[in-house]
Amino acid sequence: MKMLKVGTVIVVDGEGKARDQHGNDVTKFVPKHKIRALKGDDSICMELIKTKTGGTQPAGRTQLRIRDRSLYDSLVAQAKPLTQLDNRNDEGQEDVERFIQDSMALKPENLLISPIKWKYLVRSVVRGKNIMMTGPSGCGKTLAVQSVAKALDGRPFFYFNLGATTDARSTLIGNTHFNKEKGTYVADSLFVQAIQTPNSIILMDELTRATPDAWNILITVLDENQRYLRIDEKPDTPTVKVANGVTFIATANIGSEYTATRVLDRAMLDRFSAIVEMEPLGLEDEVKLLTMTYPNLNEDTVAHIAAIAAHTRHQVKAEDAKVSTSISSRLTVEMAGLIHDGFSLADAAEVCIYPFFSDAGGAESERTYMKQLVQKYLPTEQQGNTPWENNDQITK
Ligand SMILES: Nc1ncnc2c1ncn2[C@@H]1O[C@H](COP(=O)(O)OP(=O)(O)OP(=O)(O)O)[C@@H](O)[C@H]1O
Ligand SMILES: [Mg+2]
Repeated sequence: MKMLKVGTVIVVDGEGKARDQHGNDVTKFVPKHKIRALKGDDSICMELIKTKTGGTQPAGRTQLRIRDRSLYDSLVAQAKPLTQLDNRNDEGQEDVERFIQDSMALKPENLLISPIKWKYLVRSVVRGKNIMMTGPSGCGKTLAVQSVAKALDGRPFFYFNLGATTDARSTLIGNTHFNKEKGTYVADSLFVQAIQTPNSIILMDELTRATPDAWNILITVLDENQRYLRIDEKPDTPTVKVANGVTFIATANIGSEYTATRVLDRAMLDRFSAIVEMEPLGLEDEVKLLTMTYPNLNEDTVAHIAAIAAHTRHQVKAEDAKVSTSISSRLTVEMAGLIHDGFSLADAAEVCIYPFFSDAGGAESERTYMKQLVQKYLPTEQQGNTPWENNDQITK
């Protein structure tokens, strides 16, 4: 904040500190004699106005005028919570800036995300953007959105798993019913209620796995210039307007080997003005996550799980990649949990890693590659004679 704006209303407390109606400390922008005039007097405040013609001052100057304190109090009472600012004008600009700067304090410790991405996410939500979270499976997309919704807990939060819906119409619009009195009518879905709830945050999880039907319904909802839901495909059927301040966040399950454009329809992608690309954690962060989740786990075990995962994350991007998918943090956390419950690393790999890697091609298969990789990290007592047969025997 560089100077006071017209319309700013200030009060000064007993210590001589000036505050504006948004709660900002504006002492250094207020002339000393004005501070003295207001100090400790809680029956008055001052408003910065622009002088008009006909007054004692030339027109067009700014001036701090004494007002009754009730003006300040009513402005404070009307102020919207910061987390509900949905406009693009300058209202509460300083507060937004401050809020974004301070938002790291709102990030839960258990979410590992770079500060810039977290701030960008918070900022996009506060500014009412349509946000797309991209990244491979299990890298923390859903967790990040849930965390941001919790951080802005003044706002209603709705969750829809579009990947799990087969009937898009009934999930997004509602079911058509018939009774004698009403004839045919549509019972509103939770989604219809969500979009009519002002300032809500609506998570549309796994948009990439949604059916084309769902996309067709969402295309007008997400369009900044339309923002309505059509109840029926027929022209002239009723529409439901998206309420003010609603923020849509979609997650797209996109492997590191793909870009969003290849998986999502261009028209759909264009409707998201903020794209937050989540990446798999690096080795150090992976260790941090596992240690945080299971503090009692042996250090070496944690390091080995993290190293195996990091190897696949690196390998999947290589030109002559030996594997087509990588081990996500979801899986490493799961493995750590199993080991915490008494499983060996070999057992944990058996159930958490190998099913994700094809065994087609025998000795050349991705699964064999993974078994050899895991083998390198097993303590000697868990190692088999031939790496890829280790642990495959049902009886000994
Ligand atoms: N960046 C991360 N920070 C903290 N935990 C993480 C992170 N990434 C993954 N995890 C762990 O993995 C689990 C799954 O993460 P999440 O459900 O957010 O993944 P996702 O990206 O939404 O995956 P999908 O695309 O399969 O839906 C989390 O509950 C958490 O335990
Ligand atoms: Mg998810």
